[in-house]
Amino acid sequence: MDLDPRRLARLPAHIALIMDGNGRWARARGLPRVRGHQAGVEALRDIVTACAEWEISYVTLFSFSTENWARPRPEVEFLMSLLQRYLRHELDMLHNNKVRLRTIGFTEQLPTAVRKDLDSAIRSTAGNAGLTLVLALSYGSRAEIAQAARALARESASGAIKPDDIDEAMLAGRMQTAGMPDPDLVIRTSGEMRISNFLLWQIAYAELWVTPTLWPDFRRAELFTALEDYAARNRRFGKVES
Ligand code: FPP
Repeated sequence: MDLDPRRLARLPAHIALIMDGNGRWARARGLPRVRGHQAGVEALRDIVTACAEWEISYVTLFSFSTENWARPRPEVEFLMSLLQRYLRHELDMLHNNKVRLRTIGFTEQLPTAVRKDLDSAIRSTAGNAGLTLVLALSYGSRAEIAQAARALARESASGAIKPDDIDEAMLAGRMQTAGMPDPDLVIRTSGEMRISNFLLWQIAYAELWVTPTLWPDFRRAELFTALEDYAARNRRFGKVES
């Protein structure tokens, strides 16, 4: 199948992805949950290479939430080692596709060894000028907003800024996503109709697309369908149609 969404009227510059359904995928096959996460990496590879080929500028992946720390310890440990394996084994793929890696989230909470591999992959891909792949790791949107509010409060207390001058751009500039365009499209797999504390500030005007497909089964053909649907939508940003 020859898919190329670059022929569509409009493409999102930034896609945010909630990769849900790994556990259910595994359960449906009588496998342990972790096998679902493992299968999720295959989906990830296809989606990342497709987005790079299709010249999407930013993809943000909800890879591990602040709430995910409460999962059983073996599952958390498996996800951390899967991330390390991903960073090592997929580095060539990232380079071949000119992908630049970065992170958002409270990454200081990650194990030291994972942080080391992350820093090294980020440094190694920093010169790539294609897709920016943002891994949201130990990420929680409310905590991010509170962190930005604390930064503004500190600057205000020190006299560097005036409280009355604080506007949306200043708050956006203290978020972990500072400098990135807001997501245009949020995709969630596995059918749940919720945002789960993901980029609450940044997705104020994003288009939402939810599919019942479980993340390990999600591939570029379905992403293409989401992009077709996005291209046909009329984004008004709260204004009337022009
Ligand atoms: C949600 O499925 C998925 C996660 C919490 C982890 C996402 C991780 C991957 C796709 C693995 C690869 C990622 C990287 C960056 C290497 P779930 O476990 O909540 O599924 P369920 O709702 O069916 O239980």
